Amino acid sequence: MSRLKADGLRKHFGGIAALVNVTLEVEPGERRAIIGPNGAGKSTLLNVLAGDLPPTAGRVCLDGREITRLPAHDRANLGLGRTFQRNNLFAGLSVFANTRLAVQHRQGLGREMLRDVRRFHAVTRETEAILEQVGLAEQRDRAVSTLAYGQQRALEVALALASKPKVLLLDEPTAGMSPAETAEMVKFIGALPRWLTMLIVEHDMDVVFTLADRITVLHFGEVLAEGAPEEVRANTRVQEVYLGASRA
Ligand SMILES: Nc1ncnc2c1ncn2[C@@H]1O[C@H](COP(=O)(O)OP(=O)(O)O)[C@@H](O)[C@H]1O
Ligand SMILES: [Mg+2]
Repeated sequence: MSRLKADGLRKHFGGIAALVNVTLEVEPGERRAIIGPNGAGKSTLLNVLAGDLPPTAGRVCLDGREITRLPAHDRANLGLGRTFQRNNLFAGLSVFANTRLAVQHRQGLGREMLRDVRRFHAVTRETEAILEQVGLAEQRDRAVSTLAYGQQRALEVALALASKPKVLLLDEPTAGMSPAETAEMVKFIGALPRWLTMLIVEHDMDVVFTLADRITVLHFGEVLAEGAPEEVRANTRVQEVYLGASRA
């Protein structure tokens, strides 16, 4: 059974058809890249899968269960985590505080839990472990606004991981990064456990071909092609509309 399935998804914004009829199935542990020109519908697809936008038509299933009408936080509780194309952090708070909030949020704990010393320590330990994993332990007390851009993006992935997802939706994790920051991020994503299923919207073809097991190409809201990286690279329609354009 596929881990995540989109079935005939449509999304209209007024007269704009952002998703026309998108069907795709992602297997457990698969790393799927979603590529396509600007405006192809990639972010819209992620938003619909995550529950941040309702589809106009079609279905979304997680592990065979239909989740089309579940709000985003219920999907998160079922193991669907995400990052956003744009920064989603509390800029004035420290790295540690941002991460701890995400850990607490997943555990459904509000301020009340701070009175329980053991739970408080458990959250603190988990927060530290996440920051260690993403290489931000030394930055823990810095305000997010003072971090380098690449570090902010790494922190966003850390926060998505704090929800202990089985599927992680990443929207342009390397957008706006320097080549060095991009290389760090690719190393980091590549080192995540293989059981974690990933859908990665990405514009950098080197990143896509390094990380993806399979690639889905969107074009004007439709699936233009899908397959292993080498198949997609060799697809002449893909070359015409997308890879060709980026070489020009
Ligand atoms: N909230 C919105 N309201 C109206 N139009 C939108 C909205 N979000 C996206 N669109 C339109 O839908 C199309 C697909 O956008 P998007 O999913 O952001 O593409 P991509 O992420 O592939 O660049 C574009 O034409 C975009 O202008
Ligand atoms: Mg986008």
